[in-house]
Amino acid sequence: MNYLVLINKENLIKDSYYKYAKLINCKNVLGNTIKIEEKTYDAYLKLKDYLKTVDIIVGIDTAYRSFLEQQEIFNNYSLKYGNAYTKNYVAPVKASEHHTGLAIDLAVIINDKINIDPEDLFANENVFLEIHKYLHRYGFILRYPKGKKHITGYNYEPWHIRYVGKEAATYIYNNTLTLEEYLLKDK
Ligand code: DAL
Ligand code: ZN
Repeated sequence: MNYLVLINKENLIKDSYYKYAKLINCKNVLGNTIKIEEKTYDAYLKLKDYLKTVDIIVGIDTAYRSFLEQQEIFNNYSLKYGNAYTKNYVAPVKASEHHTGLAIDLAVIINDKINIDPEDLFANENVFLEIHKYLHRYGFILRYPKGKKHITGYNYEPWHIRYVGKEAATYIYNNTLTLEEYLLKDK
């Protein structure tokens, strides 16, 4: 299993990915059963437990998404926010790393309110800035950082984290890289 698999607009997911990946069931923040890659879930639970100790309560909005689910999200976003906005925030089918189960869209629970919509998440950016400091310790990176759209293809998404393992995550965090830049560094 390659935890450094690169999925973006130029690198679509291959069918062979599913030969090696183990997707398991878990519950999202709304209580629905969803799928996620097994080590990603384990790391997420550890991250969640740690965040609780600093009074931050997180849940999973989405993790693995099928091609159909990605298409539905794309369509719903387009209706709600328009096509231009959608292209900056939602990947086309097969170009989303949510298809791997290695990506998580975090929800934050603040004063008993479950925040999952982008406007609510951006309104709580200070909470995410705190979360971002700890991600690498658990093997996660902030996949779409500010000011890197020309590399990642997407605007800043404070909620979208990606499991890559601790070693890569720590290097990426310490050097303010994207996954694209990290994978190119030795080439
Ligand atoms: N929000 C990210 C780019 C996705 O849809 O995969
Ligand atoms: Zn996402």
